[in-house]
Amino acid sequence: MLDKKRCSTLKKRVEHLFFKVILSGFFLPFLLFSKKSLRSFFGGQLKRPATLPFYISKSYLCAFNFIKKEIMSAEIFAIVNQFKSEIENATPSTKEEVEQFRIRFVGSKNVLKPLFGEIRNVENERKKEYGQLVNAVKDAAEAKFQALKNASESAEEEVSSQDLDLSAPPEPMSLGAHHPITITMNRIVDIFSRIGFNVAEEREIEDDWHNFTAMNTPADHPARDMQDTFYLKNSTEMLLRTHTSSVQSRVMMSQAPPIRIIAPGRVYRNETISARAHCQFHQVEGLYIDENVSFAEMKQTLLYFAQEMYGPDTKIRMRPSYFPFTEPSAEVDVTCFICDTKGCNVCKYTGWVEIMGCGMVDPAVLKNCGIDTEKYTGFAFGMGIERQAMMLYSINDIRLLFENDVRFLKQFTSAI
Ligand code: DAH
Repeated sequence: MLDKKRCSTLKKRVEHLFFKVILSGFFLPFLLFSKKSLRSFFGGQLKRPATLPFYISKSYLCAFNFIKKEIMSAEIFAIVNQFKSEIENATPSTKEEVEQFRIRFVGSKNVLKPLFGEIRNVENERKKEYGQLVNAVKDAAEAKFQALKNASESAEEEVSSQDLDLSAPPEPMSLGAHHPITITMNRIVDIFSRIGFNVAEEREIEDDWHNFTAMNTPADHPARDMQDTFYLKNSTEMLLRTHTSSVQSRVMMSQAPPIRIIAPGRVYRNETISARAHCQFHQVEGLYIDENVSFAEMKQTLLYFAQEMYGPDTKIRMRPSYFPFTEPSAEVDVTCFICDTKGCNVCKYTGWVEIMGCGMVDPAVLKNCGIDTEKYTGFAFGMGIERQAMMLYSINDIRLLFENDVRFLKQFTSAI
């Protein structure tokens, strides 16, 4: 840090001060000959009877400390002055250079900060001068940085207003990606909207009645066991919905038939999280209520969906099943879209993959929701999104869908 010129002046000072030490060390004891004055000079620490060598060594030490402080203080002043001229002469032009200047002189770890503490090493007579100097240097640094910042901002504005080239090729924009759940859900919703189903969205915090009782699953019904969920604090009434079927009851209570809705959304269950199960997942619910709605219509609607979703050659099959809210009920399988029925891991070598549950809406549900069962019939279906997304994109762990690791999500940039 010390340049040549400063080295030589410092050397001269040291020589000069060394000479002072010799002289003062030699003469001090003679000047301060009385014991009393010596005691006060050495801060009252003189205990032993003073001898000449003792006076001399003490005097040297004292003079040395005094000189040391003088040397140090000169050095500290030199450093501050060096920073001062560095700040005055700095001509940062680019944004990066201005940033470098900020980090060095204004930032939270700037080089001027430690100089404030150095005041303790400055001789008493020069402390005031030193304090003023350091403060002035600090202010100069801040003012210069502010001026540089303002200049670069207005220069930028000028450039952007003057050099606007409308014919220049656009900057490439980095696109985000839809989440695989969203992609799958949008596809399903899109397919059903094309045949007149409207999207219905409802609350995730539901009451017991809309989630279970209205859906023909009263309090002591064994089917509740499979859908344990999370209840709100101090409540047996309010819960996180276990399926989107609760939207059926909400819509039927508030709309008159004909009703044709598709209800995508998040649902919850008290499940242990593993590669295959999660305590939150997504479903899409469908409900169609009108006069003379038949099982045949349901079958055709679901075949249309399967072929739009998984390809025109897809076939469906329905297996009898049980759900409290439909009668009769069925589970729908589609021909395996991964191996084309040849047999693979996904279809467990059966050639078929289960995708949803469905059935004719149980008249008890229609009654619960105030719909005339003599006049209206309907069908409903519900499917999980995660399983379909996992099959479509060969994802082997459901947890990946909820961790939102960007490395995972980036892989879907082109899947929109
Ligand atoms: N809610 C059912 C479940 O979460 C799925 C379901 C089955 C919905 C049959 C329906 C249906 O609307 O008709 O397992």
